[in-house]
Amino acid sequence: MMDKYTDKYILGIESSCDDTGIGLIRNNQIIANKVLKQEHKQGVIPEYAARAHHQALYEHAYEIIKEYPIDLIAYTKGPGLIGSLFVGASFAKSLAYGLNVPSVGVHHLAGHILLPYWLYHVNLPYLCLLVSGGHTMIVLVEYTKNIDQKFRYKVLSTTLDDAVGEVLDKIARKLGLDYPGGPHIEKLAALYSGTGDANFVPPNINFQKFKFPYTMRNRVDFSFSGLKTAAIEQIDIDASLEEKIEFCYFLQKHIAFLLAQKMREIASKLKIENGYDIKHWAVSGGVAANKTICHALEDAAGENDAEVFYPPMELCTDNGVMIACVAQLTACVEDMQLDKMLTARPDAQLML
Ligand code: KG4
Ligand code: ZN
Repeated sequence: MMDKYTDKYILGIESSCDDTGIGLIRNNQIIANKVLKQEHKQGVIPEYAARAHHQALYEHAYEIIKEYPIDLIAYTKGPGLIGSLFVGASFAKSLAYGLNVPSVGVHHLAGHILLPYWLYHVNLPYLCLLVSGGHTMIVLVEYTKNIDQKFRYKVLSTTLDDAVGEVLDKIARKLGLDYPGGPHIEKLAALYSGTGDANFVPPNINFQKFKFPYTMRNRVDFSFSGLKTAAIEQIDIDASLEEKIEFCYFLQKHIAFLLAQKMREIASKLKIENGYDIKHWAVSGGVAANKTICHALEDAAGENDAEVFYPPMELCTDNGVMIACVAQLTACVEDMQLDKMLTARPDAQLML
């Protein structure tokens, strides 16, 4: 995979939400990947997040900049928290100005979606399940010959209400777990079988113990608000640890089933209606770090003779490498996409 910027040092700055990502890539290799996690036990506080990005960027980007001759700086232009985006964009553009190199704004979701392609040479077109704190969608990624756009994204399914990561975070809060809740739910679920493996199904378990809705069956979109309400109704902070472990196990299995089932439905719809038989699937976004979900997707893909690709855990959640890789893959289609002007304005075009 050789693009105009492949052999250049590309710095990627991610600051859309609460994690500050600083990544450096060159020649399809990751040279640096720093992710500074912020502490938001009760959920992200935007003002605090913006200030913490500012501090993290000033404290940690320098170590990379002083060591490598940066050729291009990519930053997240949206979607995200406006204060956090402003800090990252202003930092990236000022640095680019100071180093006399170009900068380019990158769509955050394109980062998650294209990362598996960049890492594993996934075949185009591929189906990407993007599952994060803010989004839940299935996207068909295709090649396009447009001069200003190399990839075309078709959103085939999206959530009508909450994103799956957000649901995990809200339920985790009800359980008294810290933010972000997804990893805590996964840890508790893994304790259920006593094997530490959340995919293990113990014999004689009562699948009816908790009742979770199966909404949007045979419809293109997802809906998670009913599941969130039902889940929150069935548990609270005073439940015993055993009860919480069991609840997390079933909840996680149910969510994994819903996501895998929608991938099955969309893949079969594509095949029947459009004649597309997609053999490569990708999963990305923070929730893709969840092993039970990936396991369910592997089963669904296997039934379709397809293969699933997902980034290593540290690249599933927000990071600067994914922003740099979009710049390598797309910004360079035409240099007109590079913004050399010092206008620290996170781009208002937030549509994918
Ligand atoms: O992609 P991401 O880092 O940020 C957004 O763009 O939203 O995703 C964050 C989300 C949070 O909701 C978090 O609870 C969830 O990803 N998450 C997980 C896991 N690790 C992070 N959910 C389930 N299992 C995990 N291991
Ligand atoms: Zn994200």
